[in-house]
Amino acid sequence: MTSYSRRHVFVLVVLLMTVPGALVHAQHTPTYTEPQRPQFHFSPAMNWMNDPNGLVYYDGEYHLFYQHNPYGIQWGHMSWGHAVSTDLVHWTHLPVAVPETDGIMAFSGSAVVDHNNTSGFGTVDNPPMVAIYTGHQAGHQAQHIAYSTDRGRTWTLYDDNPVLDIDRANFRDPNVLWYAPEEKWVMVVALPNDHKVQFYESSNLKEWSLMSTFGPAGATSGIWECPDLFQLPVDGNPNDTRWVLQVDLNPGSIAGGSGGQYFVGAFDGTTFTRTDAAEPDEANWVDYGKDFYAAIDWANLPDADGRHLWVGWMNNWQYAQDIPTYPWRSAQSIPRTLALRSTGDGVRLVQHPVRELHALRDIHNRIADRSIPEGTHLLGSEGITGRSMEIVAEFEVGTADEVGLKVRMGGTEETLVAYDVRAEEVFVDRSRSGADAFSAAFAGRHDGPLPLENGRVKLHLFVDWSSVEVFANEGHTVITDRIFPAPESQDVALYAEGGAARLVAMDVWNLRSIWRQR
Ligand code: FRU
Repeated sequence: MTSYSRRHVFVLVVLLMTVPGALVHAQHTPTYTEPQRPQFHFSPAMNWMNDPNGLVYYDGEYHLFYQHNPYGIQWGHMSWGHAVSTDLVHWTHLPVAVPETDGIMAFSGSAVVDHNNTSGFGTVDNPPMVAIYTGHQAGHQAQHIAYSTDRGRTWTLYDDNPVLDIDRANFRDPNVLWYAPEEKWVMVVALPNDHKVQFYESSNLKEWSLMSTFGPAGATSGIWECPDLFQLPVDGNPNDTRWVLQVDLNPGSIAGGSGGQYFVGAFDGTTFTRTDAAEPDEANWVDYGKDFYAAIDWANLPDADGRHLWVGWMNNWQYAQDIPTYPWRSAQSIPRTLALRSTGDGVRLVQHPVRELHALRDIHNRIADRSIPEGTHLLGSEGITGRSMEIVAEFEVGTADEVGLKVRMGGTEETLVAYDVRAEEVFVDRSRSGADAFSAAFAGRHDGPLPLENGRVKLHLFVDWSSVEVFANEGHTVITDRIFPAPESQDVALYAEGGAARLVAMDVWNLRSIWRQR
């Protein structure tokens, strides 16, 4: 990988020195109309991206930093790419914020606004934005900081980095939050090979001391990465809160390869105590698809907003570097609202698409109260087709064994988003969804548990040029999957198997592009 990147850079440098303007001509110019380019998901104009990093809100802007290789379309030279948005929907690309420096890559981490200027990097009137990330070298990872006093536009690496070094080869992905009851910073950071996270505290973001360790717990069949810690009300009750500790697993996730699990419990400023499981190895899954990883929540959202929001990397380490897109690789999920809900299994995390996405709704079609006889029923004659759509559909399962939707259909291609009545599972089946020869681990069906509610199932879908995200029964079960259909595959159908079902109602919107709309 490294040699590929070095050779790539070398060829570019030689071209630049010999042919004026070669950089422009040597590479494909991004248009955001490339066949598999997400139209309403964030993707870098070109080159490689993985985890979201340093999600932070400040002064009217949502910042999205991300793991980025500025020099190539595969992983390498990890740096923090950067974009901002004022509405969580449209993104403006900014220059790399934290570059690889002196052979030390900038791995994943978080960002905070230091309102009290505890770090001394700014002033109380102009508080610094501080990024806390892992400095990675072969055989050594430690936590570093960088800061900005100009709304994230330019960044200075701290002179005395690293700020936390325990002499480990694998020690990464610091997630920092302000713990208001004790007016201190708390960091949760992963010991990937130990299946543990550690909690540190600091008064100034520069000196850190160990408070406690959590793990092993839940799923431990892969390494633990990218922890995220946040507090949420249960069923919207501000007097009944829990802490959620999300930890990513690679491989060994529910759908195979990399994915996220979470623990619900208590955090007293020092120790996280899990309260959601009878057995220590029980795991709760964030998403039942294959393409949602390394999610972290936005820091510093205005209190008046009251929401907790996150995005995850829409890819999977099993095939991340082989997905058929050019001249960029990877996308982030749509931003999602996080909440805790009491369920028959206990308190569980639910996710909803952010309401800001309504701004993209274009042509609208509605079907209500329609029977779905056994078979597949195309909806093109009713104007329902598309590459980029939002669908809200409620089904009564009736006598069917399986009922739902087929999207991105055309030729032999189809992606199924449906309910398996006997198994009580919602699923996405991308076995025939389009290009999949790039990895044997790609094609397949991904199921998530979903109890029927009065014989009904509600599916909320976001279909883009190369992805589908499903929020079932108000975010109870979420499935995120990339798909790579032909551009012409745009049909939508209702279908039922094993019996007849009924569509209670369905709203379909074609969605506008966030890149070319303005
Ligand atoms: C997760 C991850 C992180 C690491 C980063 C490197 O996808 O492996 O643990 O910081 O990617 O790019």
